[in-house]
Amino acid sequence: MTLLALFLFLLDPMVTYPPWSASIVGSKHDLSTNWDPYSTQVCAFCHTPHFANPSLPIQAPLWNRSVDLDKVFQPYSSPTMNTTPGNPQTTVSMLCLGCHDGTVGWEVIRGYNVSDKHDLINAPGPGGIPDTTSWPNCQRCHPEYYGDPPAFWQGTDLRDDHPIAIVYPTAAQDPKFNLPPDLSNGWSDVKLYSGRVECPTCHQVHDPGIPPFMRKSNQGSALCLTCHIK
Ligand code: HEC
Ligand code: HEC
Ligand code: HEC
Ligand code: HEC
Ligand code: HEC
Repeated sequence: MTLLALFLFLLDPMVTYPPWSASIVGSKHDLSTNWDPYSTQVCAFCHTPHFANPSLPIQAPLWNRSVDLDKVFQPYSSPTMNTTPGNPQTTVSMLCLGCHDGTVGWEVIRGYNVSDKHDLINAPGPGGIPDTTSWPNCQRCHPEYYGDPPAFWQGTDLRDDHPIAIVYPTAAQDPKFNLPPDLSNGWSDVKLYSGRVECPTCHQVHDPGIPPFMRKSNQGSALCLTCHIK
């Protein structure tokens, strides 16, 4: 290989990114493929610069996916909890559960019926028309291709999952919690959303650097001990 060829090879955007770049590109959250010009976009499978989903009850970051608001989630509950989980449909966690509930739901956007797993809210180009042809990478969600749903889906039953959509307790409610430096946004590494614990409190959806998409390493239970005094 000549030096020039090596240089061009290193510049080639098609080569897989090295693990230390910790970018969403090439990660499990990269649903793009090389199958057609539209599907090569990475961000488009969750965000759009224009014509974002108009029907969400929360301030979502330019969301390009359908979210079925009729789904019912069963929250974690326990007699020793001091606070009660809210409905994830009204918090940022529903953006995760839009994929991670593992069930197909439908929403009508601008007169079109859009699947919350397979379609996007805005097609590239002159906008406002849902995108049913930019195919996501089927294998990411159907590893055995049309087989059973893979184990990583949380489902709609969250009774066996760490509580989410839950307001962080005050010292008066439960003294066994560390006080966050910012009551609304949490810590510099672990994030609260309007003072709540949500899926992206512990996870960073864009960064596979600490698997599985963690905001903070849980070595020595460091993540848990950020909040819990145990
Ligand atoms: C698999 C879905 C998904 C993909 C793909 C994705 N994002 Fe996001 N993004 C989210 C979610 C969910 C949130 C809100 C939760 C949070 O704050 O992390 C978010 C939040 C954001 C925010 C606002 C909060 C912040 O972290 O700054 C920006 C900016 C952003 N994304 C940019 C991008 C860009 C640029 C890309 C493509 C390189 C991208 N995202 C790809 C899901 C995604
Ligand atoms: C566009 C659909 C989509 C959205 C939105 C989404 N995910 Fe995922 N997520 C996936 C897929 C697909 C996989 C698994 C890919 C695989 O196993 O190859 C995955 C995997 C994961 C994993 C496991 C990673 C690993 O290394 O095993 C975590 C953790 C995760 N997602 C958290 C989140 C959180 C938290 C949010 C919201 C902030 C979110 N995801 C939003 C589609 C999505
Ligand atoms: C973001 C994750 C995700 C992606 C990407 C995805 N699917 Fe699905 N799909 C699902 C889930 C979850 C279901 C419902 C559970 C199941 O049947 O496994 C489903 C169901 C289906 C079904 C059953 C019919 C239905 O609507 O219930 C078909 C067919 C299908 N998917 C085809 C595809 C094809 C083809 C692709 C690639 C173009 C694709 N899927 C990409 C998540 C996904
Ligand atoms: C309190 C922190 C915390 C919250 C909140 C949280 N997770 Fe996790 N999650 C983790 C940790 C830690 C792991 C790694 C689990 C392990 O190593 O056993 C994980 C693992 C995962 C995985 C990988 C597969 C698995 O089940 O082990 C997925 C997918 C996932 N989380 C999605 C979500 C989604 C979706 C939400 C919101 C409904 C969520 N997480 C909320 C801490 C959290
Ligand atoms: C961002 C802060 C935060 C992080 C990080 C966190 N938790 Fe929690 N956890 C909470 C809150 C808030 C509750 C609800 C407590 C309540 O209302 O009493 C909770 C509830 C729980 C409960 C249920 C308590 C009960 O009374 O039923 C357990 C167990 C738990 N967490 C364990 C963990 C573990 C293990 C980790 C690390 C993987 C972890 N938590 C990480 C904030 C956090």
